[in-house]
Amino acid sequence: MSPLDTNAVPVGPAIEPAEFSARRRQLMEAIGNDGVAIIPSSIEQTRNSDVHYPFRQDSDFRYLTGFNEPDALAVLAPGHADGEFHLFCRPRDREREIWDGLRAGPEGVVSNYGADQGHTLDAIDTVLPKLLRGRSKVVHTLGLSSAWDQRVLGWVNTLRAASRRGPAAPEAIVSLGATLHEQRLIKSAGELEMMAHAGRVSAEAHCRAMRVCQPGMTEYQIAAEIHHSFAMARMEPAYGTIVGGGANACILHYVENSAVLADGDLLLIDAGAEYDGYCADITRSFPVNGRFSGEQRAIYDLVLAAQLASIDAARAGQRHQDDVHMASVKTLTRGLVDLGLLTGDVDALIEDEAYKTYFMHGTGHWLGMDVHDVGAYYDDGNSRQLEPGMVLTVEPGLYVAEGTPGADERFWNIGVRIEDDVVVTDGEPRVLTADVPKHADEIEALMAG
Ligand code: GLY
Ligand code: MN
Ligand code: MN
Repeated sequence: MSPLDTNAVPVGPAIEPAEFSARRRQLMEAIGNDGVAIIPSSIEQTRNSDVHYPFRQDSDFRYLTGFNEPDALAVLAPGHADGEFHLFCRPRDREREIWDGLRAGPEGVVSNYGADQGHTLDAIDTVLPKLLRGRSKVVHTLGLSSAWDQRVLGWVNTLRAASRRGPAAPEAIVSLGATLHEQRLIKSAGELEMMAHAGRVSAEAHCRAMRVCQPGMTEYQIAAEIHHSFAMARMEPAYGTIVGGGANACILHYVENSAVLADGDLLLIDAGAEYDGYCADITRSFPVNGRFSGEQRAIYDLVLAAQLASIDAARAGQRHQDDVHMASVKTLTRGLVDLGLLTGDVDALIEDEAYKTYFMHGTGHWLGMDVHDVGAYYDDGNSRQLEPGMVLTVEPGLYVAEGTPGADERFWNIGVRIEDDVVVTDGEPRVLTADVPKHADEIEALMAG
C-alpha cells in the first residue's frame, strides 16, 4: 500500500512485496548485466484550470514497483555495484504534503518499496550517467514521453562524449515492451486473485443494474448504480462505462449515457471495475422491461451460443484468432443465415467476411493491468497459441443498426454483446466474471426479482 493509501481500509487481495521483487528479478534476468532499464511513472494530467484528472499510474511502472505516486522514475541496473533498483521520487515536503497528501520520499521508497537506493528527482542527471556507464544497451520505450526521450538521449550523448576517456557509451536503445509485456501477459496466482476480485465486484454491479432497470429510467442513472457498486468496494471504472439502450446499443463506443430507456428496447452495458491497477471488462445485454421479445431473444441466444463456443476454445494450445475468434465467426454466420439476416453459402459468407455487417469487431483482447492489455497477438505472423496464465476477454456481438441493407426491420436497433473475462489454464477455461447471469431465462428471472 502506498503512503497515499494509508487511510484506505483493506478490502481485498494485494500483491505482496516479494512478488514485486520477483517481477524485477525476472525482468533483470531478461535484460542481462549489459543493460539498464529506465521506466518513468505517469505524471498528473490537467483537466481544466488547476484541476487534475484522477491520477492513474503507468501500468509498467506500477507492475514493477507498486509505487503509486506521480513524478517518479524507476531504474533497474542488473548486477550494479551501487544497487540494482533505483527509485527517483518527489522529495518529502511538509507544506506540499499538507496540501496534496503524504509522499514516500527517498527514504520511504527504500523502506516501503524495496528500492536499493532512493533519490530525489533532482539527482537524476548525476546518478543516471553513473548507472549507464559501461552498459551497452538502454531499455527504454521511446515515443511515450518526448521529455523522457530527450533526457535519455542526453545521458547517452554525455557518455558518448566522454567515451574516449572511459568506458563505451550504450549503443542500443531497445523497447521495454518487448520483454516486459510478454512477462505481464502471463498472470501470477496473485494477479489472478486481484482480477477475480475486480470481476466479482463488476459482476455484482451488472446484477444490480439488471435488478433496478425499468422503462423511464435513464442510461446515466443505470451508470450511477454501477459506479456506486464499484466505489463501495474502493474501485473505479477501468474504462468509460457504456450504457446504451435501443439504437444506442448499436453504437460500439457509445459513452454519452444520456437517453431515457424505453419499454421494449434492449440495453447494452459494458462496464468493468479496476481494483488496485487490475481490470475487469464485462458486457451484458438485457431487455429494459425484463422480457426479451422473440427477435431480441433470437439474436441474444445466437450471440450467447457464439460466446460459449469461443470460451470453450480458450484453451492452452488453441490460437487466439484462428480458434477463439473463428468459433464465434462460424457460429454467428450460421445463425445469421438461419435468421435470414444473411443469405448464401455459410463457408463463402465466412470467406467474404459478410458477417462484418453485424459483427464488426474482434472476439476479445488480453486483459490485465490495462483493459486492452499488453502482449503480442501474433507470433511469427501466425495467430498466437494460448498458454496457461493468459487472461482474455471473450466478447462476440451482433448489432443490427436501423436501415442495415438486407436486415428485416423487425431486427432493427437490436444490439447484443456478451463479454466475460477468461483465464487460460491447464484444463477448463476459468471464467472470472461468471457471477452475473447470461442465459436469457436467468436474466429474466433476476429481473423479475
Ligand atoms: N470495454 C472495452 C472493450 O470491451 O474492449
Ligand atoms: Mn473488452
Ligand atoms: Mn468491454
